[in-house]
Amino acid sequence: MTLTEIMQTLPYGPAPEAAQPAMDWLKAHKGRFQLFIAGKWRNPASREWFATINPANGQKLAEVALANATDVDKAVKAARKAFVEWSQTRGHVRARYLYAMARQIQKHARLFAVLETLDNGKPIRETRDTDIPLVARHFYYHAGWAQLMESELAGYVPVGVVGQIIPWNFPLLMLAWKVAPALAMGNTVVLKPAEFTPLTALLFAEICQNIGLPPGVVNIITGDGQTGAALVEHPGVDKIAFTGSTEVGRIIRRATAGSGKKLSLELGGKSPFVVFEDADLESAVEGVVDAIWFNQGQVCCAGSRLLVQEGIAEKMYAKLRARMEKLRVGDPLDKAVDLGAIIAPVQLEKIQRLVQKGVEEGAKLWQPSWAVPAEGCFYPPTLFTEVAPASTIAQEEIFGPVLAALTFRTPEEAVRLANNTRYGLAASIWSEDINLALDVATQIKAGTVWINSTNLFDAASGFGGYRESGFGREGGKEGLWEYVKKIEQHRTAQGQSSARGLTARASAESLPPIDRTAKLFIGGKQVRPDSGYSKAVYAPDGRLVGEVGLGNRKDIRNAVEAARSAQEGWRKTAAHSKAQILYFLAENLSQRAEEFARRLSEQTGQDGAAEVEAALEALFTAAAWADKYEGLVHPTPLRNVTLAIPEPIGVMGILCPDDQPLLALARLAGTALAMGNTLVVVPSPLAPLSATDFYQVLETSDIPAGTFNIVTGERDELARTLAEHDDVDAVWYAGPRAGWALVEKASAGNMKRTWTLPHSGPLPDTDEILRQATQVKNIWVPYGA
Ligand code: NAI
Ligand code: MG
Repeated sequence: MTLTEIMQTLPYGPAPEAAQPAMDWLKAHKGRFQLFIAGKWRNPASREWFATINPANGQKLAEVALANATDVDKAVKAARKAFVEWSQTRGHVRARYLYAMARQIQKHARLFAVLETLDNGKPIRETRDTDIPLVARHFYYHAGWAQLMESELAGYVPVGVVGQIIPWNFPLLMLAWKVAPALAMGNTVVLKPAEFTPLTALLFAEICQNIGLPPGVVNIITGDGQTGAALVEHPGVDKIAFTGSTEVGRIIRRATAGSGKKLSLELGGKSPFVVFEDADLESAVEGVVDAIWFNQGQVCCAGSRLLVQEGIAEKMYAKLRARMEKLRVGDPLDKAVDLGAIIAPVQLEKIQRLVQKGVEEGAKLWQPSWAVPAEGCFYPPTLFTEVAPASTIAQEEIFGPVLAALTFRTPEEAVRLANNTRYGLAASIWSEDINLALDVATQIKAGTVWINSTNLFDAASGFGGYRESGFGREGGKEGLWEYVKKIEQHRTAQGQSSARGLTARASAESLPPIDRTAKLFIGGKQVRPDSGYSKAVYAPDGRLVGEVGLGNRKDIRNAVEAARSAQEGWRKTAAHSKAQILYFLAENLSQRAEEFARRLSEQTGQDGAAEVEAALEALFTAAAWADKYEGLVHPTPLRNVTLAIPEPIGVMGILCPDDQPLLALARLAGTALAMGNTLVVVPSPLAPLSATDFYQVLETSDIPAGTFNIVTGERDELARTLAEHDDVDAVWYAGPRAGWALVEKASAGNMKRTWTLPHSGPLPDTDEILRQATQVKNIWVPYGA
């Protein structure tokens, strides 16, 4: 071959990274790893071990311990013991440990990268240039938050012992996403790596030992789904953080229901990759490569649905096919390889099955002309065109290198198609028109939106889902809230100390006759309950003070429908106008202050006037926040601004507590409204009359019909209907413990957010309510000419 010929073809020769250092490390451990509990290596109580395999060649790499419930118990106890001191350790000291972890990871970066590639099968280029640098970055970043916690999160304390369960697609990175913020905020952890990829977590355990991390602060227990389940169910765990499939996420939601455990879930996705006809097509094609062939498409936020504007579709597909033809699949240790191995035969079979289904359902399949290696677990990059929006491959997470392409005509259609999924993890938008791109970004229901870019991650930016992609954020300031709780506060006066009996008796003399049965308030109108029944309301001393309609499933369904129809309009109402509407509600309430005060005293036997005043103040506070609850601009590296924008959650059900019924209504519902949610409110069954009197306040205000609906009735019956309803996005439930379990369990259907509160006692502070009423979307906007 002449030099000119070589220059023209530029064939890649193999450029393998040496596996030796990692193999030596495995050999030094005689190919067997125990559990890391309380700073020591221990044999599993189960006496069972299982193999971890290199998916690129099917060879066994090592054996790891299979932790059972006894081992989980030991690990949780070790974490509990360590928590006593660790939670009291100064932020600066915790920062020093996190900093040391970051340094150690950097020092051993190549060993980590090679080990990760061996265990997982992803290309060394990715572990070396993406996974491991990001891991170090997460520890550095959170060292900073440990340092700043005292000043920046004043009033908050760590949650306690955290159980963390992670998947196999980014083994060490998912560990970092979970361990770094947990330790920074003063929690201790028990982490269970995925069964396919335990090795880098075990190397990380050695780092914990080397830097002298106090025993029990980090415990690493290897095992399978049963180990994970035992961790989830352990009563000594205060919080579960999970990343993995939506199916298991749902199981965990149900298993923790009513336990009081805090929960964050990062689940699956079917993220849209939207290309408008004015996009830079060359860049968009490279974007697709990163979106769906990064990590063989085994990425929760993979851009697996290509939505391309009709006029450029054929051109884009042609460019894409040409690019796919040049991709290289093979030995993950080869530095010039684009796609490595699929994690395991079971995953390969799943991909094959779904691709087969795509063909059967009529989509057009295209794969490159070359064949993938016959040995090991490999699958070629795959493109489906002519995909029907409702077909299996357009709806189900394939978790493999398979792209499903659909076309659209207008931006509205693009948004509709993008949102036509039960998931909401990420989206990528390509257009040279920044107005269009940002407009579409705000309309797509997803936790992360990348403009003219894709699969960008950084510790400073929050990551997490909308809808069935889960809840909670990892990274950014928003991610810290998952690992802290508010210091318990004791009830302030707020009319609670007044002599119950006295007030009740005093008001008895001036009692008006029982006049009317309140109806329900749905879609801006008072309507009769479907059941045709009413329910008596009694004062604390047993006197009858009124009657309210007994709402049922049907009424809730109507109310949800009304709230859904109103949602889009209310969300888009300018913040200033929302504030005005809330101020006007307060004004109308103040005109009837005496009437409300009397009613409150009757129902609760407490100082009604003080409560009306407090409710007015709460409405003012909500109105004030409507145009002031600001997001953040995260300083992520690269040339880019990352906008962290709090968005409304959508349609919310709010089941009110028994104490201070009017204040609770004003504070909870007012704040939720201020943030752009539309509501179905169920007043406390013990004291519903202030809410039903509120109909008139609502009727004389400017609040759009359907924005604020009120249904009276049996709390738990209505709570169940709301929690089971697929068109409800969040349920706040104040009520007895048994109800917490009911609501959390029922919420697993569509993975709606839940917030459970005691039925009486102090109301949560406004900062917590604001956070619960919103979800953060991170929009990445790159710049550069
Ligand atoms: P998985 O969700 O079963 O596993 C994730 C983690 O959860 C592992 O550590 C596993 O041991 C643990 N686990 C399993 N069952 C559990 C239980 N009942 N309680 C507590 N922990 C439990 O995911 P798997 O089986 O590895 O993959 C299945 C499918 O899930 C994949 O084909 C893929 O489509 C999807 N997946 C999605 C991920 C994402 O990030 N969105 C990550 C991993 C898998
Ligand atoms: Mg493996």
